[in-house]
Parts: sequence; structure tokens; C-alpha cells
Amino acid sequence: MSGPSIEPSGGGVGAFVNGVDLNEGLSANAVSTMREALGEYGVLFLREQTITPEKHVAFAELFSKIDINRFFTPVADYPMIAEVRKEPDQKKNIGGGWHTDHSYDLDPAMGSILLARETPPKGGDTIFANMYSAYDTLSEGLKDSLSRLRGVHSSRHVFGVDAPRFKDKDNDVGSRLRNPEDATQDSIHPMVIRHPISGRKALYVNPGFTIGVDGWAEKESKALLDMLYEHAKQPEHAYRFQWAPGSIAFWDNRATWHYAVNDYHGARRLMHRITLGGEALAA
Ligand code: SIN
Repeated sequence: MSGPSIEPSGGGVGAFVNGVDLNEGLSANAVSTMREALGEYGVLFLREQTITPEKHVAFAELFSKIDINRFFTPVADYPMIAEVRKEPDQKKNIGGGWHTDHSYDLDPAMGSILLARETPPKGGDTIFANMYSAYDTLSEGLKDSLSRLRGVHSSRHVFGVDAPRFKDKDNDVGSRLRNPEDATQDSIHPMVIRHPISGRKALYVNPGFTIGVDGWAEKESKALLDMLYEHAKQPEHAYRFQWAPGSIAFWDNRATWHYAVNDYHGARRLMHRITLGGEALAA
């Protein structure tokens, strides 16, 4: 193989990486090309990568140390790989709302590498949204105001002991998660961050885990965050990825959001996710 070529998705975010076979490993040059492309496009899509869990781990470790998600059930014998599963008799999915992974951590995960193992006959796409363009298309006045604000992020309402999913009588999603008692620490990050790879500014709040604006009342926070979310969700910022077994989406959590579409009831969807360690985020 001649090495990666990067082909923009044609939508609002993401690029396809062609000319790579992860079974053969990656040269230092290929890793650097992909890291730069990740910083620029926010998500990298790869097709037809039939790799073992060991190769999945080895691919991830080329980019960062692995950050084991404390709430997801791990794949049997592979504690570094989280399982994202929905069985034919289950109704709810994991990740079925706009979010970015681990923003509740003090050093949020830099990225996630999701590999499709089993996909439904139709549906089960993931939609990604671009937080660079979400930021760039705000007015200069609002950008200026946001530059002084910080968002409060939490995992409690999603993964904690009082989260609604653990109170479901059928425990549909709760049975696929673990360690609710570990959802205790909140984090505060600038609402506009300087992206660690690209140096570009990105909007860094998300509907899944941001619970308020630091120092603001709940009602005030909600009004501002809802407005930003409506803006960021616009289709102009998005790209919808269709999976097949062996597809990979490698997203940068600081530059994107994602949303797992739950439209495949009665079929199994099984994905393996590795989360990559990140760093403290600065304005
Ligand atoms: C996730 O939110 O990490 C899972 C996304 C997906 O299953 O498409």
C-alpha cells in the first residue's frame, strides 16, 4: 500500500482515509498524516478493516495512551475495549443523543476509535457534527462573549446512580453499563477551546454532558446552551456515516459531536470502542 490518502467526506465534517490496511501496521509518516487529518476534519472514516482486538489496540496506541471508559462494559478478555451493543430485543441504544465522549473528565479523551463488528441489515448510522464550523459561524459578538465563559460538565445524570437509565424497570441500557458509583466528579472547561492539534477554535459544550455555564443560574445556562445546540445541530455542520462490518470511525472528541441513530429495532448492532487519552483544554 502506498500510504494514506485523505478524501474529505463532502459533508460538514470528516474525511475518508484510503490506502491503509491496519493489518499491515502504519508507518510513522502515515500516523502523522492521519493525526493532522484528524485535527483538520474532526473524524476519519476507514472501510474494510478486518482486524483482531489486538490490532485495534495497537492502532489506537499509535495515537495516544488508552483511556479506559469506566462506565462501559468491556469486551471479554480486552479491558481496553468497550462494547457498544444493542441486541434484537433491546429498544434503547448507547450514544443515542448528541454528545462528545468524556467531556466530564478533567483531561477529556482526545478521541475514540469505533470499529463495527456486527451491523444491522439497515440503519444504525452515526451522525457527526463539526464544532469548528459551529464556532466559526457564530457572530463576532457572541464569539467574544463565549471567550470569557466556561462550561460545567458532568457524568452523574447519564452514568450515575440516580441516572434515569438505572431506574428503568427493564434496566434496558443500564444493564449494559457499570460502575454508576464512579460518576462523582464534574469538570469545568472553556466553552471555546483552542484545538490541541489544529490550533483552531472549537465550540466545546455538548447536550449530553454539559450541565451549565460556570457561575450562571440554571435558567440562564439553559437558554444559552439550547441556542448553541440548535445552532450546532444544523445539517450544514454534519455528516452521516453508514457502517458495515470492518468500518472504523476515528473521531476527535474536541472537534466534533456524534449521535448514534436508533432505527434498527429487532437487529443486533455490535461495535468495539477504544477511547484515547487527552489533555486539559485551554481557551
Ligand atoms: C458512542 O456514542 O460512542 C457510540 C456511537 C455509535 O454507536 O455509533
